[in-house]
Amino acid sequence: MNAITDRFGAFEPGTVWLVGAGPGDPGLLTLLAVHALQTADVIVYDALVSDDVLALARPEAIREFAGKRGGKPSPKQRDITERLIELARAGHRVLRLKGGDPFVFGRGGEEALGLVAAHVPFKVVPGITAGLGGLAAAGIPATTRDTNQAVILMTGHCATDGSDGIDWAAYARTGAPLILYMAMSNLPKIAPALIAAGTAPDTPVAIVVRASTEAQRTLVTTLATAHDDAIAAGFEAPAIIAIGAIAGLKAALVGAGLDARALP
Ligand SMILES: C[S@@+](CC[C@H](N)C(=O)[O-])C[C@H]1O[C@@H](n2cnc3c(N)ncnc32)[C@H](O)[C@@H]1O
Repeated sequence: MNAITDRFGAFEPGTVWLVGAGPGDPGLLTLLAVHALQTADVIVYDALVSDDVLALARPEAIREFAGKRGGKPSPKQRDITERLIELARAGHRVLRLKGGDPFVFGRGGEEALGLVAAHVPFKVVPGITAGLGGLAAAGIPATTRDTNQAVILMTGHCATDGSDGIDWAAYARTGAPLILYMAMSNLPKIAPALIAAGTAPDTPVAIVVRASTEAQRTLVTTLATAHDDAIAAGFEAPAIIAIGAIAGLKAALVGAGLDARALP
């Protein structure tokens, strides 16, 4: 028994731990995530779990990739959940490791519901979500008293023809910064929709690619030019896009003692 096991309970055989791996930097893992990595028999991990995080796993642990790779279709969600159930029923300590927080745009909720239905004991370990921790790693505060009283975390991976029911005008009217996940490919549609709804074209936009990793890159631009500037800079997913005054605060913070990774 180590201190973490004493405090939080053992990782029992036949159980699943649904764990957030944070945005990529292993220094941003929780103690429970590290404990799970060093105890699990099988690790079922997603594409956004960084190699540096996986390197902390027990060498004997079996690793199963459950994400999208090389343009191949990703495994169906139901298949992943069934695999977790199968592994747990075989008596393994199953670590389901997901980027960021498992319950934020990660389908962890669906997996947890599947485990409940199958009567498989499980534990949820939150992680630092990219939309908050990833921005912080790039020197962008999600809130300041002078800029905003709310933030909106939302997915940009959606139909922009209205069929998904996202009312961009309603979000624009709140005046709150939008922090978008999975939005890179839809940015050419999202930005005009927000501008048409009254958001100023010169509203600051920050795009943070691979936040908190060695490959982190940040671009601060405007809503009107964000897509073209991202293309010109060669930015690709995974990225967080922050739209609003908070994006403009990065410049004021850079050089004031931030981690070097927060620099452009
Ligand atoms: C399926 S969602 C998973 C979100 C994750 N559960 C979380 O809480 O951060 C994947 C999206 O998260 C964002 N993302 C995750 N990790 C990131 C990182 N290190 N840097 C930038 N964006 C990231 C990107 O928008 C990516 O397309």
